[in-house]
Amino acid sequence: MSDVLKVYAPAKVNLSLEVLGKRSDGYHELRTIMQAVDLRDTVRLCPRSDGRITLSCNRDDVPEDEDNLVMQAAKLLQDNYGVSAGVDIELRKTIPPGAGLAGGSSDCAATLRGLNVLWELGLEAPELEGLAGRLGSDIPFFIRGGTSVCTGRGEKVEPLPTGATFHYVLVVPDFPVSTASIYASCPDSLTMTERGYKNISRGVREGRPEMAGSSLFNALQETACRQNPRLAEMLTHIDNLARRTRSYGSLLCGSGSSMFSLHADENDAERAARLLTEALGVRCETAASLPDWGLRRLLEREDSSRC
Ligand code: C5P
Repeated sequence: MSDVLKVYAPAKVNLSLEVLGKRSDGYHELRTIMQAVDLRDTVRLCPRSDGRITLSCNRDDVPEDEDNLVMQAAKLLQDNYGVSAGVDIELRKTIPPGAGLAGGSSDCAATLRGLNVLWELGLEAPELEGLAGRLGSDIPFFIRGGTSVCTGRGEKVEPLPTGATFHYVLVVPDFPVSTASIYASCPDSLTMTERGYKNISRGVREGRPEMAGSSLFNALQETACRQNPRLAEMLTHIDNLARRTRSYGSLLCGSGSSMFSLHADENDAERAARLLTEALGVRCETAASLPDWGLRRLLEREDSSRC
């Protein structure tokens, strides 16, 4: 029996999110710059020989059946590649669900990356990204991670080189937001200026958070704030504190409910996290961007006797 694999599943933020139009399949055409950050879940994969797939999770509000993308990912690989082995999956969540941090999508991608190794499938990134795109729009991004420009539904991933680590505070309200309900009422098209887009992509490439921070844009923010007035209040608070927290800018993560503020370095982010926790009374924590992890990084082996 092969070893147990522990796979890390990071969260993401969107430095920009533009809605380019509504599609005939009901989805929205997007252009978004996504960046993986080091707040992370862990997916532990214990091999089993009888072909069964099981899932257990440390949170009660996360399904442990086929409704969970992690289960769907394992089943998809089994069916597609005629795998006779099974797996017991243990999901340890730190990323809150419904927060716009794509924890569920990242868990799913981590399962694909991990089972590719555990079941010795030998799949490369483009093939895994293709499978990931069948399961959800955000999932292909997490096959390689790092920072990418994502288009289509979000499933077409173009890696963006990064010049430096970006430091954030993630502000996580204690209520979730439904992505589908935000997309159902957002404008059919809402884009940023090309100059703003260039500021962000150049800011990322050249490692200049102040340049990226000056042009942050999220086409879903207004809709999310209208549907959840507490988000609008919190964002106003965060903006009002920008000088004291030395923030370069703040924005909603995806469709919410969490928000981020972008800072010069780790010390500034830590100071800001303390001030924001005091002011907002919700979970606020620092996070740093992660480089492209390639297919085989963020994996650790353990002895199978620990299953
Ligand atoms: O693809 P995923 O399951 O993550 O999307 C969740 C929901 O968000 C979709 O059912 C759809 O309503 C909405 N969505 C959208 N356009 C996108 C991505 C998501 O309308 N590009």
